[in-house]
Amino acid sequence: MKNDLKNKINDKSAKIGIIGLGYVGLPLAVEFANNSFTVIGFDIDKNRVDQVNRGDNYIGDVSDDNFSQLVSSKELSATNDFSIINEIDAVIICVPTPLNKLKDPDVSYILNVRYQLSKYIHPGMLISLESTTYPGTTRELILPALEKKGLTVGKDFYLCFSPERVDPGNEKYQIKNTPKVIGGITENCTKFGKMLYESIIDTVVPVSSPEAAETVKLLENTFRSINIGLANEVAIMCEKLGVDVWEVIDVAATKPFGFMKFTPGPGLGGHCIPIDPHYLAWKMKTLDYRARFIELAGEINTGMPNHVIKLIGNGLNRFKKSINGSQILVLGIAYKNDIDDVRESPALDIMTLLEQGGAIVDYYDEYVPKIKWNNAEKVGQKTLNTDLLKSYDVVVIVTDHSNIDYEFVKSQSKLIIDTRNVYKGNKDPKIIRLGTHQIT
Ligand SMILES: NC(=O)c1ccc[n+]([C@@H]2O[C@H](COP(=O)([O-])OP(=O)(O)OC[C@H]3O[C@@H](n4cnc5c(N)ncnc54)[C@H](O)[C@@H]3O)[C@@H](O)[C@H]2O)c1
Repeated sequence: MKNDLKNKINDKSAKIGIIGLGYVGLPLAVEFANNSFTVIGFDIDKNRVDQVNRGDNYIGDVSDDNFSQLVSSKELSATNDFSIINEIDAVIICVPTPLNKLKDPDVSYILNVRYQLSKYIHPGMLISLESTTYPGTTRELILPALEKKGLTVGKDFYLCFSPERVDPGNEKYQIKNTPKVIGGITENCTKFGKMLYESIIDTVVPVSSPEAAETVKLLENTFRSINIGLANEVAIMCEKLGVDVWEVIDVAATKPFGFMKFTPGPGLGGHCIPIDPHYLAWKMKTLDYRARFIELAGEINTGMPNHVIKLIGNGLNRFKKSINGSQILVLGIAYKNDIDDVRESPALDIMTLLEQGGAIVDYYDEYVPKIKWNNAEKVGQKTLNTDLLKSYDVVVIVTDHSNIDYEFVKSQSKLIIDTRNVYKGNKDPKIIRLGTHQIT
């Protein structure tokens, strides 16, 4: 049976199932299909399934032409019929792992998949969990349900955790050249998992257990959250010191060792950095340990939208105006530049806080034509012209998309709050850069 899976991976006759066809799952499905595997995507969202089967791409990192070609050649298809798992040799799970209202892990999506897998698991099958989660999930949450059918892990089926490391919009590092970590329940599990990923990825790094692999992912994102938190706090300190934080960081980064550059900003965004550290902190709470660095970074980072509001209020004060009643344009609302994802974006918090303060708020973001807003739809401004810019009391740059003519924005706006150092070194008093102006 073992050799069967090995041969199927080697001759690419293994059928690959990707469960969850979002930002992580769809590019992964495409990568396997591009490497001559037949791939079936599973999703509970019928619209997504139909979109895939029409060859209609919806993820920025996937090429439209490549996608439609893979669908028309039947190398890639999608379904919401989970009984097809019966035909799959290797399943990769890429479903969401958000937080609930109490900021505790919401593993309900993983549990739904577990239910489907426990029904359709069959001998010789390889299962890899890629959704970010707390250490112990693979062994404690998934394994027992899969063994119920009398199958033994490492012998009859193989179970691993392999964290996704995708960086949406990154042109240099994509699936193929980003090293992949994998930890199986048994040595055999790791061996087969490694073999599968090596058929599409240059470097696969095995670790001793799923728990180690789960913790690697949480360390990577906690490292980012804490260092961004430090950069944000230094930005606030620099405002009080009257020093330009961006200059300080750039110069510190000339040190060739012992320093790594992180930049401040309006707050954390995306499905990873604001969420993942809480998975680790939650797990540690169950072990009676408080993850203090995580808590502190979380406190500073989640405070940044409020800090931006302070800067806006400060700027308006100069014109004897208040946030209440001002017309404010938020420029860029995706959680980072040159992508269309608004999940956890600080722009949404900033817009909410401004509206709560009585401002009239619009946004402009070519990547995000509309958003769900207060149980309705909010449509972004369509053109960034002179009349539009002149009609606002303040323009707040939250996301620095590269398709914006910032010199034009500067020439036409009354007041700009720049949270991304777009106007590096600027001394024009109508521009307030985060991390440079003294708060009074
Ligand atoms: N987006 C990133 O940049 C990124 C990077 C690294 C890791 N991750 C992790 O990867 C996982 C997936 O993230 P994402 O950004 O792709 O999420 P996503 O929301 O873009 O996509 C998830 C997909 O799973 C589907 N789904 C939900 N429940 C399902 C079920 N029971 N069966 C089948 N499909 C189901 C949803 O309909 C959706 O299409 C998360 O754990 C996330 O933390 C994301």
